[in-house]
This record gives sequence, C-alpha cells and structure tokens, in this order.
Amino acid sequence: MTTPLSASSPDDVTAVCAAHDLTLDEFHALQSHAQEAKTRAYCPYSKFRVGAALLTRSGAYVTGANVENASYPVTTCAERVAFGTAVVAGYHQQQAAAQAGNGNAAAAGGGEGGFKAVAVATDAVGPASPCGMCRQCIREFCDLSVPIIMFDKDSKFIVMKLEELLPLSFGPDALGAPDPAKS
Ligand code: THU
Repeated sequence: MTTPLSASSPDDVTAVCAAHDLTLDEFHALQSHAQEAKTRAYCPYSKFRVGAALLTRSGAYVTGANVENASYPVTTCAERVAFGTAVVAGYHQQQAAAQAGNGNAAAAGGGEGGFKAVAVATDAVGPASPCGMCRQCIREFCDLSVPIIMFDKDSKFIVMKLEELLPLSFGPDALGAPDPAKS
C-alpha cells in the first residue's frame, strides 16, 4: 500500500506536481474544489461524502459530488457527476471542436479540450480510490497518464495515473472510435 503524502507538506506537493506536470496552484485548486464539492454530496443513505474536481486542459475546474437515491443502484458517484457536467459544458475535446461558435461557454473559450487531472476527496481515514465504474468513466475521457489525486479527511493524499488504477483497460480505441482524449 502506498504511504499517503500530505497536502500541507511543500516537499510532498512539489514532488507530485513535478512528477505529474501540475503547478502548485493547480494542485491546491484541485484539492479545494474537490473538498468543497464534497460538502454538496447528497448521501443520506451511506453518509459517505465524495467530492470530485476535474482540471480541464483549458484551465477550468469542474466539480461533482455523489448523488444517492432511495433505489440504491440509481446512485451516481461524484466522479461521474463531474464528467457528465464537464462533457455537457463542452470541455470534452470533440465537443469543443464541434460546438465552437455555437455559444457554448467552454467551447467558446477555445484552447485545448480534455482533462489534465482528476481529484477526489472523502471523509475517510486514508485516501479512498474511485470505484471500478468511475475508473472506466475516467478512461473514456482521459489519457492513461492523467493523474488521479485522492484526498482523505485530513488532506493526506495519494496520486496514481489512470493506467495504474485501471490496467489493461478497455477504451474507445477498442471500438475503432477516435480517442476522445486525443482527437
Ligand atoms: N462513491 C463515489 O461517489 N465515488 C466512488 O468512486 C466510490 C463511491 C459514492 C457512492 C455512494 O454514494 C457512496 O460513495 C458509498 O458507496
């Protein structure tokens, strides 16, 4: 098991940022956005709050939180809420290209599409990692090298690349579709 690092340790954060091509500001913004999103979780059944934050390649932050349901399987995880929100906002690269000029806020901003990093925050002791379904969702829209930063209740964190969390993954390329993270 990877030993968690501390978000309050400049050495830890600097090393992680260097390894994953993030700035210190981006790292701390991902942390604060994920932790703030966690406060908006709707989780009356599990009482397990999860917040997610995505950093787009154009520099925007998109958040999500888990949204539960009395019919338990209808629950949507924080990560999938965030990606759904981001795709509909036009931050997905293919959409950004297709929708440019149609008034879509994200597309109108121009620049690159796709995502640079994913952060997840919970109240757990020790970082919790995205569930299998969410890993597959992330795989749809992110390069395999994208870092996934997992914060626990005390801002201890671990970082793993998508390819480490989801080895031998099945993605859009397997169906002959253009890679959404690259096209
Ligand atoms: N949950 C997430 O939001 N993301 C994950 O990756 C794992 C689990 C949520 C779903 C449910 O509301 C609660 O955590 C307990 O499973």
